[in-house]
Amino acid sequence: MKSDSNINLRYAIRGGKPLEGEVEIGGAKNAALAIIAAAIMTDDTVTIENMPDVRDTNVLLDAMAGIGVIIERPDRHTVKINGSMVRNVNIEYELIKKIRASYYLIGALLGKYKEAEVPLPGGCNIGSRPIDQHLKGFRAIGADVKIEHGSIIAKADKLAGAHIYMDVVSVGATINILMASCMAEGKTIIENAAKEPHVVDVANFLNSMGANIKGAGTDVIRIRGVSSLHGATYSVIPDQIEAGTFMFAAAVTGGSILVKNVIPKHLESISAKLIEVGCEIEEFDDCVRVTRRGKLKSTQIKTLPYPGFPTDMQPQAGVTLSLSEGVSTITESIFENRFRYVDEIMKMGANIKVEGNTAIITGTEGLSGANITAPDLRAGAALVLAALAADGVSAIDDIQLIERGYEDFDLKIRGLGGIIEKVSDDRSVKKFRLKYKAG
Ligand code: EPZ
Repeated sequence: MKSDSNINLRYAIRGGKPLEGEVEIGGAKNAALAIIAAAIMTDDTVTIENMPDVRDTNVLLDAMAGIGVIIERPDRHTVKINGSMVRNVNIEYELIKKIRASYYLIGALLGKYKEAEVPLPGGCNIGSRPIDQHLKGFRAIGADVKIEHGSIIAKADKLAGAHIYMDVVSVGATINILMASCMAEGKTIIENAAKEPHVVDVANFLNSMGANIKGAGTDVIRIRGVSSLHGATYSVIPDQIEAGTFMFAAAVTGGSILVKNVIPKHLESISAKLIEVGCEIEEFDDCVRVTRRGKLKSTQIKTLPYPGFPTDMQPQAGVTLSLSEGVSTITESIFENRFRYVDEIMKMGANIKVEGNTAIITGTEGLSGANITAPDLRAGAALVLAALAADGVSAIDDIQLIERGYEDFDLKIRGLGGIIEKVSDDRSVKKFRLKYKAG
């Protein structure tokens, strides 16, 4: 994402103030990305509501416009997509290399046109991120798949249902196979499927377009192929990770936040850990309040596929545990490169040692503001939480990575009383520092 025009934007943050109040959560980025791609599988217009206005979804929409998809945005959170004018199945590289979810266009184009050519995906640098399970699924239903000159080329005379056993639980591969197989002849069974809320959301969306998918949310998904899909109006589920990030923001700053427009069931593993570290959780129909008044306690966390603790919440948890009493451990079992926030938070006084895929975190009394850099989307958000809890001023570089997945992050934090400004140069950081030097 280094080529983005606002590369120099950073957050200046004055920490030490508990976040208090209410925050409204947007649509789930990772569900929206797959739903946007799946929307081109019909020639009818599809209306998607509760669409997050974040960089990744906007990049994918731009890339789709590049192959002739008609995109309208009647308002900030609604998008109308019409895929009847798709000119070619070859996606432009420059746009798509920025985001991981570009791979969903393979499933969508292959499913509809029996043909796709998409550059190998980019995305956050959080590990090696193979796509063998996606390719295995496409091949199982009859596609000829090869990788040439940095692109995935998939073609089939016809697609036919198959029994597919996933060797690893993969969100992306499960969703991609759902899309590629929903218009294949006969029945496809995905065993060891991912159960994440966004997998269920994509299945519900495809069903609303006329697909016949059963079992999403369990580890066996059954898809009976249909001959065509039709238009629909669909609302994306709330973002589990944006919600979880604000829940941890209450914990780490010692505040109280009512996190609104959520599905509390999707947040259970996050709530459970927050209770263990000493927070109070109140659950309502579509909101959750997190309050922390006493000291933070240590705990053990291991990231796992849903319903386990999400890898996308691991950095936010790590930052919080760096301020907890005693020694905590976090084991990252999904992506090997997700401790890149550790070097940055050590500059703020944290005491964390990473051994293999485990971080051993010895709690400190307090963090101090520093100049730090966002290494990736979730690690960047976690460092914002650290800066909000720290004493003094921090400046966080590369916030375009955070904007990939958080809409109006700074505005929402300000709405909770946090002191944060988006700034573009050293002078502005200096001015911010002078303004907030004392108290
Ligand atoms: C999705 O990535 C999300 N991205 C990630 O969110 C999230 O961290 C991840 O799921 C896990 O929940 C999008 O939805 C766009 P996986 P994905 O396939 O689909 C291995 C964020 O911050 N694997 O479930 O790429 C893989 O290496 C991001 O919003 C294979 O071995 O993740 C990993 O260890 C970052 N072969 C595990 O499976 C494959 O073919 C899970 O990966 C595919 C995956």
